[in-house]
Amino acid sequence: MEISSGLEDVYIKHTALTWIDGEKGELRYRGYDINDLVEHSTFEEVAYLMLNGEMPDSSQISDFRRKIQKGYLLPEFTNKIIAQLPTDADPLSIYMTALSALSSLEKNYTYSKSSDIEKAAAIIGNAGAIIAQAYRHISGKPPIDAQPSDNFARSFLRASFGEEPDGKNVSLMDKAMILYLDHEVPASTTAALVACSTLSDMYSSIAAAVAALKGPLHGGAAEAAFRQFLEIGDPSKAEEWFRKNIIEGKKKLMGFGHRVYRTYDPRMLIFKKLASEMLRTEEQRRIFAIAQKIEELGVKQFSQKHVYPNTDFYSGIAFSALGFPVNMFTALFALSRTVGWLAHISEYNETEPRLIRPRAIYSGPGPRKLVSVSERK
Ligand code: SDX
Repeated sequence: MEISSGLEDVYIKHTALTWIDGEKGELRYRGYDINDLVEHSTFEEVAYLMLNGEMPDSSQISDFRRKIQKGYLLPEFTNKIIAQLPTDADPLSIYMTALSALSSLEKNYTYSKSSDIEKAAAIIGNAGAIIAQAYRHISGKPPIDAQPSDNFARSFLRASFGEEPDGKNVSLMDKAMILYLDHEVPASTTAALVACSTLSDMYSSIAAAVAALKGPLHGGAAEAAFRQFLEIGDPSKAEEWFRKNIIEGKKKLMGFGHRVYRTYDPRMLIFKKLASEMLRTEEQRRIFAIAQKIEELGVKQFSQKHVYPNTDFYSGIAFSALGFPVNMFTALFALSRTVGWLAHISEYNETEPRLIRPRAIYSGPGPRKLVSVSERK
């Protein structure tokens, strides 16, 4: 009996969804390389692929889009609950709360492949509606109903900002959501699997995943990495900040390191290119220059430990270029990853449904007699 710290190198399921080669820095969804998918497909096509196993034809994608759009209209009680939350709430907490509220509608949900896919599509729509509403709530703006459009990213940006988004922003949002869509079984997906393995409902299992994603060692790193660049303030200060905080201060460099990748995270390379093409203001160009400097210093300092920049290092710069504030970045990660969580839940229930129940190695006291409180000293 031995403990695998952090469940490192422990395999909890078979999967046909996502392949990661940590040594070569490769990522494939259902056999398609992430670079191809980002370049030549859309978020809805990839979401369909992950849930159904094959890329959709035009009638399948229209039908799937309709199923997603059914989730745009939230029950009134959910809107009321969101409206009651503090306006400085973490948008992920708003997402988690709304999912828990929606789980109150689930009475004795039983898994089946067909109902899973139907339910998953509606939850993707719910996620778009809730997270757009969360953004408006924390921005002190009234909610806008997500309206069906020719693609999910467009509907989401319009429900967030209240105006027709430009084509470049729609394309960047769409690509960002493909990049974050799935990544095998990180902490958040594992949390979803643990919940669904008890036959808890899909909403509750996704809420469990959101709870795990929140932390700065996982999805919270997108925000934490960007806050590092804001703290540094200018590329000329990067070297001194790095020496003081990371080398001498021994702080973790946020947006660096990964449990699986031993080289560059392929998503980071794509996010870096997308972000560099979207820099519109002096402030954005300065932040990007700071990030490049920190990337260079980080690789120089940590590459011999196989610690390299990960997907969260540049993603915040892309989200910021879309107009989102820092505290929205992990919620945008969750919006996309909801698809991966749903796909793994569906796959687990279909292929090897078993209660996930690990053991602990006992090291406490041996058997002993209980004495009454008057005799205890
Ligand atoms: C995501 O798993 C996934 O797939 C997640 C994700 C997804 O798509 O779902 O890819 C998304 O969560 C990416 C990771 C985002 N997190 C961060 O950027 C936070 C900073 N990163 C670290 O906390 C860390 O790299 C983890 C948590 C991501 C991974 O940690 P591990 O695998 O537990 O590695 P470790 O802490 O045991 O580190 C091994 C060595 C240590 O040095 P030594 O003690 O051996 O000398 O590498 C060092 C660590 O100190 N190290 C770092 C570092 N990450 C690892 N040193 C400085 N800065 C870092 N970021």
